Amino acid sequence: MHMFQKVDADQLEVNPFNMIGKDWMLVTAGNEEKANTMTASWGGVGVMWGKNVAFVFIRDSRFTKEFIDREGTFSLSFPSEEYRKEMKFLGTVSGRDEDKIKESGVHVGYMDGIPYIDEGSMVLTCRVMSQTPIRKEDYLDESIDGTWYASGDYHKMYIAEITGVYAR
Ligand SMILES: Cc1cc2nc3c(=O)[nH]c(=O)nc-3n(C[C@H](O)[C@H](O)[C@H](O)COP(=O)(O)O)c2cc1C
Repeated sequence: MHMFQKVDADQLEVNPFNMIGKDWMLVTAGNEEKANTMTASWGGVGVMWGKNVAFVFIRDSRFTKEFIDREGTFSLSFPSEEYRKEMKFLGTVSGRDEDKIKESGVHVGYMDGIPYIDEGSMVLTCRVMSQTPIRKEDYLDESIDGTWYASGDYHKMYIAEITGVYAR
């Protein structure tokens, strides 16, 4: 595979609905000693506080959350359809229980010290700007809580500056 090149965000021609919602992404965080990754299909990209940002929604139970909170950085990688099986695995098993990165066969690389999964054509490196709890008292749509939070495992919404866009 080609090396990643840093590109300008305004050069990208991607559809966020497909890229995130349909094709899924891997949220990866940690350091050179230990990293963890998880599959995510909720989130977005946009503009906030004068910066290009990514929005990700991470439930409190996720092991990956501990790495994001410790480092204040994470990456988003976008593997192609051929890695669907690996993404299902990384989105089902917790790194708390197994060395799932090794078992899945995907590879960790580092961009400016931020870990990412190398199987994919694009990586966004991100710096956390805010972490907001998704709270029951804020919903205007009353179906949300029963549909998505019956388990009590709520999301945190992270808004993160996109510090680098890398494409092959
Ligand atoms: C397609 C798919 C999408 C997912 N999207 C999210 C998400 O947006 N947010 C989230 O907290 N978990 C999401 N998950 C669940 C996590 O990936 C899963 O719980 C994972 O095992 C967490 O791993 P960890 O404990 O090692 O961090 C998704 C799982 C799949 C299969």
